[in-house]
Amino acid sequence: PRDLRELAQQTGIRIGTAVDVASLRDEADYRKVLNREFSHVTAENAMKWESVEPERGTYTWQDADAVVANALRHDQKIRGHNLVWHNQLPAWLTTGVENGTIGDAELRDILRDHIMTEARRYRGKIRAWDVVNEVVDDDGNLRQSIWLTHLGPGYIADAFRWAHRADPHAKLYLNDYNIEWNTAKIETTYTLIKDLKAQGVPIHGIGFQGHLGIQYDYPGDWPAVMRRFADLGLEVAVTEMDVRMVLPVTPEKLATQADYYRRALSGCLSVSACREFTVWGFTDRHSWVPGWFDGEGAACLFDENYAPKPAYQALLSVK
Ligand code: XIL
Repeated sequence: PRDLRELAQQTGIRIGTAVDVASLRDEADYRKVLNREFSHVTAENAMKWESVEPERGTYTWQDADAVVANALRHDQKIRGHNLVWHNQLPAWLTTGVENGTIGDAELRDILRDHIMTEARRYRGKIRAWDVVNEVVDDDGNLRQSIWLTHLGPGYIADAFRWAHRADPHAKLYLNDYNIEWNTAKIETTYTLIKDLKAQGVPIHGIGFQGHLGIQYDYPGDWPAVMRRFADLGLEVAVTEMDVRMVLPVTPEKLATQADYYRRALSGCLSVSACREFTVWGFTDRHSWVPGWFDGEGAACLFDENYAPKPAYQALLSVK
């Protein structure tokens, strides 16, 4: 294959990326690589609650709309990210809950309205929604959040039902990190989804974020974990792949990184339920990693100047 779009065609799996709206607007080089290489996109931040409703009742859809419009113009499918999360909530919401001006019954109405308003706005345009993001913690407990504390564990089933009502054709996902290898987290997630299915809750997929680092062993059981979830009748996706390293960059580290990317894609291709392989940003010029992991970086397929790295070539070599 000549590029990732062609690889996607040959493998039948869409290859996606997170999209940063500022770069989409301001940088021609960014747009060029984005639209040449990728056939699936996720808004990196633009569909999160704090972005779409910064003040209560005031919706700001411009950034999310820009991602959707660009995708439709370039034959890219879209992953909606996300409807329920514990992070990047607007201040009016978290403060209101904290100081008690938003009570529990009102909070439930607010969550329902948020989910239905956003899912309805993009109805028919979103292939898959991350309905709930990161709802299990690393110890294998349901994550502490305003949702769990004030609405109880039933908020998860509610969220899927509301999303399904708003956009009946979208595939509805649970999305999380470390479920590539963390057995406590995997077991809890598995039981949670099994119970949801038994109750007839409309959940259709599980997203493995895939935030890896070469200083850790490659999670070799990942394809087996994918298969286990697929056997529950779910579709599977890699939703936020990146492979960070402790800086400085060396040729050896880039080679290891390339191998991690290659193994991840070939793992996904070995599981028939795996439908999408999305990276969390494609260029080291715009990546969340340096800002979140001290001393780490260089996690993407292209360098700061949009030159393809060994990891990019490694993906092409998978087929
Ligand atoms: C990150 C974005 O990349 C950053 O720009 C933002 O400041 C914080 O969130 N898991 C997720 C994503 O589901 O939404 C996160 O995105 C990265 C971890």
